[in-house]
Amino acid sequence: MTKKIAVIAGDGTGPEVIREAIKVLDEAQKHYNFALSYSHLNYDGDRYLTEGKTLEDHELDQLKQFDAILLGAIGHPDIKPGVLERGILLKLRFGLDQYINLRPVKLYENVETPIKHKNHHDIDYVVVRENTGGLYTGVGGSSMTGTSQEVAIQSMVYSYSQVERCVRFAFEYVMKRHSDSPWRGLSHADRQSGFIGKLTLCGKSNVLQHVFGLWERVVSELSVEFPQVKTDYVHVDAMCIYMIECPEKYDVIVTENMFGDIITDLAAVTQGGMGVAASGNINPLGVSMFEPIGGTAPAFTGRNEINPMAAIGAAHMMLEHLGFQEAARAIETAKIAVILKMKSMAAAQMGYSTSDIGTMVSNLVRDNARVTQSN
Ligand code: IPM
Ligand code: MN
Repeated sequence: MTKKIAVIAGDGTGPEVIREAIKVLDEAQKHYNFALSYSHLNYDGDRYLTEGKTLEDHELDQLKQFDAILLGAIGHPDIKPGVLERGILLKLRFGLDQYINLRPVKLYENVETPIKHKNHHDIDYVVVRENTGGLYTGVGGSSMTGTSQEVAIQSMVYSYSQVERCVRFAFEYVMKRHSDSPWRGLSHADRQSGFIGKLTLCGKSNVLQHVFGLWERVVSELSVEFPQVKTDYVHVDAMCIYMIECPEKYDVIVTENMFGDIITDLAAVTQGGMGVAASGNINPLGVSMFEPIGGTAPAFTGRNEINPMAAIGAAHMMLEHLGFQEAARAIETAKIAVILKMKSMAAAQMGYSTSDIGTMVSNLVRDNARVTQSN
């Protein structure tokens, strides 16, 4: 069966990295049992400049017919910040109810991390960021605007069901992640108690007691349903310390939208930067969207110097989500091998061009598939 993929390559280096992701997906399709069809959609900054449109309501509706969306990057130097973010990216996330933003934080071998004394054995966790609530709902307003009495309010809004579905996803994700073998970070005593993984709630309950009181209550309620998942709690400010000092202590972190936005930028740096960090905006029952976290990187646009690994990672996450596990694993294996050969993850310092890297990954997908099949 063919899965329908909407491709929104977007602005800046978006099209360059998406081209390489598709190169790899196309190679994988030749060797594994799945098929994709692509519809390329120009919901981007250039269209906004010529037609004045961001994402129209009927376009959002049409996207509901796809099986997944692959997105490059949205943002344009000539457009006021916020217009495309709210008009396209956040409209997609909210309109398609992609209530989870899944951000794996994995330091691959040979990738440099700015954290001294940490290596690829230490950094391998996943942030489950709530993706449609909190401060991002835009609930608020301002009054007496432009005077010295101006008040501005933007509220962190959460309903019980919003928190529940996010935390439930996170618990289920821990179970899935360790269905084969328990998490390495568990102590002997934890294993003896029957735990197979850990879920850390990242909040700020010492100050924002209403919102995080709710999150804490939901975690404790659901933990009864998931006795194999150890739970713990860390304030977001302390989390920023621990992500640097002891990243090996984390398995799956669940957090609200804005905190998740902030800590995953920090996390991305620890895993080698924007060139490698990928994410999935997930609606488990609807249309999910996969994107590199990196942004449009205007300084590198059109130079064939940007790192396509994050986009290739997004493609790999998309296949995993669509249920093509074998192909997804093949892409990850190829990706890991190519990363071992790269000089750096930073744009223009990789030792290879953008298109070289896409070709190297897709050649390895091909070669590894031949070896597997002839065995
Ligand atoms: C991200 C980005 C977006 C966000 C912006 C571009 C709206 O920073 O995907 O993390 O804040 O979620
Ligand atoms: Mn962000």
